[in-house]
Amino acid sequence: MLKAELSDEEVFDKVSAFLMKHKQDYTGKERDFILKNCLWGRRSSLVTDILRQIYDELNLLEEKENVYNQFLCILKQNFDINTDIVEIGGGKIPTLSKKIAQRQTHGTIVTYDNKLIIPKISIPNLTLVKRRLLLNEQLKAKMLIGFMPCEGTETAISLVKRNRLDFMIALCDGTGHGEDSFLSPEEWVSSMIYDAKQAAREAGLGEVKKTYIKGSPYPIIYNRR
Ligand SMILES: C[S@@+](CC[C@H](N)C(=O)[O-])C[C@H]1O[C@@H](n2cnc3c(N)ncnc32)[C@H](O)[C@@H]1O
Repeated sequence: MLKAELSDEEVFDKVSAFLMKHKQDYTGKERDFILKNCLWGRRSSLVTDILRQIYDELNLLEEKENVYNQFLCILKQNFDINTDIVEIGGGKIPTLSKKIAQRQTHGTIVTYDNKLIIPKISIPNLTLVKRRLLLNEQLKAKMLIGFMPCEGTETAISLVKRNRLDFMIALCDGTGHGEDSFLSPEEWVSSMIYDAKQAAREAGLGEVKKTYIKGSPYPIIYNRR
């Protein structure tokens, strides 16, 4: 949720100024959408990714209502973040990776997304890679994470199995998982959990656990060895 003390005008002005500064990074359609919906965060903490990244970048969100902070909190409760981590589907602004990198005392985080727009961030342990991860890559990491990486979820599960990685993935409704899919969001989520369980069993990653962040009907899944 947006900070209560911010007026609607303040939110609009800050988001407009951000878009002016990053004009080349958003299409006209995206800019129109963002401006039209820039108060969406008054009603929900789970707004669409391009908007929630800008909210976080501009520090417009209540700390506890920030979905990236909630994910980070669950991650830290279950894993040591001071290790080598890969994030799949960081988005245009790699909000989650930035937060993790700033809190790591050692270890690294590498974020992959072909949509990345801020390729130069000077956090030494953070590497941004502007491309998609493929199903069968060899990763030099101990853990893979994803925050609602949509169709990247299937790739993520394949990669954790192939590379025997610990993982934590926030699922979404899966609407980006392919135009020809005939699965409902609920069926898609169930199929991802099924695949993750199978991957964990085959790669010796232990049990697959489920938890939720506030405001999302879709689970976060992770392994426990
Ligand atoms: C809904 S967005 C979420 C972005 C970000 N995690 C967030 O929540 O702010 C899903 C992102 O996953 C990315 N993605 C999907 N498949 C991917 C893959 N195989 N490798 C890297 N990125 C992928 C898309 O490009 C998109 O930016």
